[in-house]
Amino acid sequence: MKEEIMKRTEAFVKQMMGRDSTGHDWHHVDRVRRNALNISKKEQSGDPFIIEMAALLHDIPDDKLNNSHEEGRHKLAGFMDVLDLPPAVKKHITEIIFSISFKGGKGPKLSSAEAKIVQDADRLDAIGAIGIARAFAFGGKKGQPIFDPSLSVRDNMTVEEYRNGESSSIHHFYEKLLQIKDSLHTATAKEMAKERHQFMEAFLTQFYSEWNGQA
Ligand code: ADP
Ligand code: NI
Repeated sequence: MKEEIMKRTEAFVKQMMGRDSTGHDWHHVDRVRRNALNISKKEQSGDPFIIEMAALLHDIPDDKLNNSHEEGRHKLAGFMDVLDLPPAVKKHITEIIFSISFKGGKGPKLSSAEAKIVQDADRLDAIGAIGIARAFAFGGKKGQPIFDPSLSVRDNMTVEEYRNGESSSIHHFYEKLLQIKDSLHTATAKEMAKERHQFMEAFLTQFYSEWNGQA
């Protein structure tokens, strides 16, 4: 029965996110799902079914992919409603999904092991080689420059500033990506983040040296 629910959820998510080009496509979801399950296994923590469901559905109500919060909420609730699962399980999955988003680091404190694991997996996908690719894809879609040396790095942003303020994709590394390794919950994710973090630092060093005509 759980297998059938999972298949149905996969099909729903593929249909909803298949053509997204902001870095939130089906493959992002699939990577988050696999990393979350691996972390859970290594840590021997969390319910794998809850983790897999929350990972699959985590971007469905995201405000970037919906016209309003209300629309996102509705989309997720409409799908959850028809699943043959106990109300408490649905509630837990829904709570995880709404609690994990980054939003400039202003999210609520997470309580469940499952929420921490899915958030770690989602954040791991924002760093390293994949994270670099996603940042420039997102930046291009948003119409922001690759880099603008005249802009300063922002900190203590409101969610509104984080989403709509003037910035560049290179700035996003300082505003979010380089902070991710220190925001992870599980030892397994922290370990996985090390190599990805170093890779981003090496990327930035090379980027500036090419930018300045020194490479
Ligand atoms: P979440 O979906 O967890 O709230 P974000 O929406 O901030 O997180 O980020 C989702 C993806 O888009 C990440 O890979 C992130 O690096 C990228 N992204 C978000 N904002 C920007 C930005 N201003 N410039 C470049 N990439 C961004
Ligand atoms: Ni995500």
